[in-house]
Amino acid sequence: MSGIKKIACIFAIAAGILAAAWVVYDFADLFLHEQEDAEEAIMAAKDVASSSQEGSPAAGFPEANRQAVISMGQNPGTVYVSWTGNAKEPEYLRYSDDPYSLPVAVQQKAERKKLLSDGWYRYTVTLRNLEQGKLYYYEIGDGTSFDSPRFFYAPKEGGEDVFAYLGDPQFDNSVADYHAWGDLVWNMYKNNADLEFAIAGGDLVNVPTDEAHWKGFLDNCGLFSMIPLMTIPGNHEGVSSNNTYKKIFHHVGNGPAGEAFYYFDYGHCRFIMLDSSFLTGDRKKSMGEAAWKRREAAVERWLRQTLAQSDKTWNIVAVHHPVYGMHDVFTVSPQIRESWLPIMEAGGVDLVLCGHQHVYMRTRKIDGIVHVMGVSGAKRSNYYKGFNAPNYSESLYAAGANYQIIRATADRLELTSYSKNGHIIDAAHIEKGLAFRAKKKLGIPVEE
Ligand SMILES: [Fe+2]
Repeated sequence: MSGIKKIACIFAIAAGILAAAWVVYDFADLFLHEQEDAEEAIMAAKDVASSSQEGSPAAGFPEANRQAVISMGQNPGTVYVSWTGNAKEPEYLRYSDDPYSLPVAVQQKAERKKLLSDGWYRYTVTLRNLEQGKLYYYEIGDGTSFDSPRFFYAPKEGGEDVFAYLGDPQFDNSVADYHAWGDLVWNMYKNNADLEFAIAGGDLVNVPTDEAHWKGFLDNCGLFSMIPLMTIPGNHEGVSSNNTYKKIFHHVGNGPAGEAFYYFDYGHCRFIMLDSSFLTGDRKKSMGEAAWKRREAAVERWLRQTLAQSDKTWNIVAVHHPVYGMHDVFTVSPQIRESWLPIMEAGGVDLVLCGHQHVYMRTRKIDGIVHVMGVSGAKRSNYYKGFNAPNYSESLYAAGANYQIIRATADRLELTSYSKNGHIIDAAHIEKGLAFRAKKKLGIPVEE
């Protein structure tokens, strides 16, 4: 068995151990020995993920990291792989569930997009009809020479869906802050080894025209060469437009044409990913009032239709600016409440994940929807002063970076929020019973 396969197998077993342990919330007592082994295996997997991102000189990319990120299509059978390079020639990806057959695997030519400067490109390949849960190996190269293999597990639906929410990864003082973000991400995975994918809620960078900011963020996305990262843009990806963001992150194009809106289905959930900067005055100005109005009408039609056509138990929205935040200063919260919230409420949205204000806050259920604001990056802002919590707030945490783990089953949506060190800072759940499902099946409007 090859080294990488062996490590991958250890990793899979480790993931299973931690997953099983988590269910009983007791792994420290029950699995102390196994947990140590599991941690060792995960650290080994982390090393593989980092080292396997070393670019081959033959591929013409001098940097140490190819910044590979995978994301899911509308359904988890489709995966997009994106990476960075500076090759003047086309690049290719080959993949297989058997690492020994990689040299003879079909090579797929990558779509290439030029980013901000000459010699800085983003490449994307679409992998279709993947078998859920299967371990795939992939290699990136110029068609002759390839980097050492990376691997990912094709996302697997069924049973409990487990995903993470990462609010604003944006740095505070310098790009070096992204190392702390990268540590948070790996620790999150170590403590939740059954994690299936993550959502990043916008404000990934500080200045979207600064290559170093993108590099700092992407260099710390090693986990996401193995499990999918689903993103939305924030205001720091560009308010008037977010072109570089759209070239770097590849998502399914099932939203209004040319915009960064999309949706995807996973297990018991439909995720609706919104670009709230679309509602800013700057965007309106850059598009022109008449064109913006036509597009906004298309956004609203799409949102209404996407919710109406959902047959999932849970409809979850990710949007950078909060609908109900700490306050309405420097946000488009009032515009979201006016334009999109009535559609979300009528369409049966259960949970809204947001960011922007750099504190953790969970609201009570407001007109059927719970709103959760997170921040996973270093940037701090003094939004919460210890006395100014809005009356709809049920939980607040302003002491630093945090992440959310969400577990969805047919009748329960469970949220646990952790500080960057893995301490629980909040926990809550929503339940839907048999009556809900029966009514929904029969097309009867459901009141909660
Ligand atoms: Fe923001």
